[in-house]
Parts: sequence; C-alpha cells; structure tokens
Amino acid sequence: MRLLITGGAGCLGSNLVEHYLPQGHQILVIDNFATGRREVLPELPGLTVVEGSVADRELVDSIFARFAPTHVIHSAASYRDPQDWREDARTNVTGTINVVEAARRAEVERFVNFQTALCYGRPERVPIPIDHPMRPFTSYGISKTAGESYLALSDLPWVSLRLANISGPRLAIGPIPTFYTRLKAGQSCFCTDAVRDFLDMSDFLEIVDLVLRDDAPTGLFNVSSGEGHTIKDVFDAVAAHLDVVPAEPVPIVPCGPDDVPAVVLDPSHTERALGWRAKVGFSETIKRMLCWYDAYGVSAIYSHLRPARANA
Ligand SMILES: NC(=O)c1ccc[n+]([C@@H]2O[C@H](COP(=O)([O-])OP(=O)(O)OC[C@H]3O[C@@H](n4cnc5c(N)ncnc54)[C@H](O)[C@@H]3O)[C@@H](O)[C@H]2O)c1
Repeated sequence: MRLLITGGAGCLGSNLVEHYLPQGHQILVIDNFATGRREVLPELPGLTVVEGSVADRELVDSIFARFAPTHVIHSAASYRDPQDWREDARTNVTGTINVVEAARRAEVERFVNFQTALCYGRPERVPIPIDHPMRPFTSYGISKTAGESYLALSDLPWVSLRLANISGPRLAIGPIPTFYTRLKAGQSCFCTDAVRDFLDMSDFLEIVDLVLRDDAPTGLFNVSSGEGHTIKDVFDAVAAHLDVVPAEPVPIVPCGPDDVPAVVLDPSHTERALGWRAKVGFSETIKRMLCWYDAYGVSAIYSHLRPARANA
C-alpha cells in the first residue's frame, strides 16, 4: 500500500504507523501536531511526515499529487478546546472534505475514517446499535458527524469505524491516564458515574487490517467489546495496579453537562459483517495500558469534554 495517514502523530495514527511500516508499506503522515507529537514518528525509510493541516486544501492536494496514495486512513481530528468550534469545523468538516475530495480524484482503493461514539448523542438504548439515530451535541461530536456524513455522500469505497475507547501506547486522554497520574502523585481523584466500553489496541489494529482489504464490506461499523464498565471499575483497576489503598472511598459524581452517562457500542453488526470480535477482555486491556505507563510514562492529557465537578 501507499498509505496516507492523516493525524498520524496521534495515539491511533502512530500505532498504525508502527503496525504498517514494518510490513513494507510506504506511509505519508500529515499532522499539525495539535494533540500529536512529532517525536513519536522517528525518521525511518518508507515514512514521510508533513507538518500541516488537513484544512489546507492546497497542501492536501499537493500531497495526493506527490505521494499518490492507494489507501487513506483519516485519523486527524480536532477536539482539544470544546469552545473552539471553528477549529473543530475547520479540521473535522472542511479537512475531511478536502481529504475525501482528493481521495476521490485519486481513486483510492480504500478510505477508512474513525468516528466518535458521541455521534449518537445521548443514546435511547444501550448497547447502541449501528442504526441508532445520530444526535451529537458537542462541538467535537457535531463536526465529526458532519465529516462522516460527507464521506458517506461520496462514491469512495469507504469505511467509518465508530470506536469505543481504544487504549494502547501513548494514550493520553480519559480516565486511565488521569487516575494513573493522580494516584501516582498522591493526589485525590473522583469518578463520574459514567459507563464506557474499552478496547485494546490489538483488537483495533485487527479490525483496521480487515477493513483495508479490497474485498471487505464498506459502510459503518461499531468497534467495541460491547461490554460496559464504570469509571469506578477503571479507578479500582488503577489503584490495585499501583498498590494504592485510598484513605476514603473515592467520590462518585454525576457526569458533566456535555458528558453522556452510558456509552456502550453494540458490535453485533460488525461481528456478523466482518467476522471480527474483540479478543482482549477489560482487565487485560487496562493492565496492558498500565504496564505501558509503568515503562514509558503518561504525556499531556487532553479532553474534549468540559470537566465534571467534584462538588457537583
Ligand atoms: N482513541 C479513541 O479511543 C477514539 C475513540 C473514538 C474516535 N476516535 C477518533 O480516532 C481518531 C484518532 O484519535 P486519537 O485518539 O488518535 O487522537 P489524537 O489526538 O491522539 O490524534 C489526532 C491527531 O490529529 C492531529 N490533528 C488535529 N488537527 C489536525 C489537522 N487540522 N490537520 C492534521 N492533523 C491534525 C493531531 O495533532 C493528532 O496527532 C480521531 O478521528 C478521533 O475522533 C478515537
């Protein structure tokens, strides 16, 4: 493959680079390093890194002209500042349109997009089936849903994977790195009463392998274990791993205003269509993540959500 990975310096993107580069594929990454880091992509034969934004149409077109990708993984996304609607729209809507249009002209063989579970908004039922109505209500969710909708409007051979919380090398968002960092520093923690589904990186990489194949079905797929776990379950796993016994029970507070109490994706359509099923269970997923932090540490923590209040 000649593989273009947008947002390739991010968590998922850099894991994809590490997965596909050793297999001999040519890879070009475009990233503006808004939340990704240049240093996670070392200079290696077969890897080209371009600093810039997918919102820059001329740059995107010149990359397609020069690199001529056969496959695209669109992983770039803006979410860092929930108030910065314009940047979310520039990256997640205009940027996606730029990459989709260029990919159409280049007649790429596969276009793989990643979508947030926030596209479903506050779900009517959990686990959330793939045909659940989309009612996003955050800037990130709204703009990502618009981007995915433009992709769906195209005649590309496209796949959009609606992802559970993927954990693996360089994860710097969400409860696992937050609890790990705070408990290690002897700081207090609180849990929201939210329920989430967690997926190990190896299961994620396996489904990306599958959907990049020319003969794989196209369309929308939920990517999840289908199992919900509370944030308190994550806290307990981190505390046990670090041998921390909190003096007081950890406070459990209601979700913040733009959070969703329960997000668990129903993967049954994906399992039927692709023959894929998550293999790594919750405890092992969290354990692998924590062992990685033990070895490499936690980098900056970003969130697309406004913080829940400990005294709410
Ligand atoms: N990690 C998950 O569990 C998860 C869950 C649901 C959806 N997703 C989606 O997966 C994709 C990757 O997420 P991630 O967790 O790796 O996040 P991430 O922040 O680590 O990666 C996103 C990358 O996009 C880059 N970027 C941002 N704006 C850009 C722009 N205008 N042009 C070029 N690059 C830009 C960032 O610098 C970063 O390297 C995103 O599309 C996200 O919406 C991830």
